[in-house]
Amino acid sequence: MRQKMCRTSEVKVWSATMGLAVMIAALVACESNATNQDAAKPAAGATPADVQAGEAKFSANCVACHGVRGVGTKQGPPLVHKIYEPNHHADMAFQRAAENGVRAHHWEFGNMPKIDAVTPADVDQIIRYVRWLQREAGIY
Ligand code: HEC
Repeated sequence: MRQKMCRTSEVKVWSATMGLAVMIAALVACESNATNQDAAKPAAGATPADVQAGEAKFSANCVACHGVRGVGTKQGPPLVHKIYEPNHHADMAFQRAAENGVRAHHWEFGNMPKIDAVTPADVDQIIRYVRWLQREAGIY
């Protein structure tokens, strides 16, 4: 923490002038990896019934790296991000990622291992969930 650029005093000034929401945003920005900063906001609403199965499979198999609601973690990138919208990463990219793993190319998190625990049908459900998150975030 100490070696980071974000200074408490600056955050306090922002807080006084622009309010608590901005302070929280500043803290989140300080915490997150620089490459995550153009990630979109996570979906806020309740998960619709038709993508809940995908959410459960995402939580079991992907969330450790891609984060709750796909916002990313220190182990992996946000999938709720414009580079993963359907025109950039079609559904096949998700199937291939789970089946073969991913060699690091967009980010600096390292490689994604293949995920043996999911079937192509599971990944289909996960894709529907991630597409819902992306639409909720206004990505497409
Ligand atoms: C151990 C961590 C980890 C887990 C678990 C994981 N991923 Fe990933 N994933 C990554 C990393 C890291 C990248 C980024 C690689 C890069 O492009 O630099 C990535 C990239 C991706 C991509 C982009 C692929 C491409 O073509 O660029 C997709 C899609 C993806 N993951 C889907 C999933 C899904 C679906 C699951 C669960 C079934 C999952 N990931 C589980 C770490 C993980």
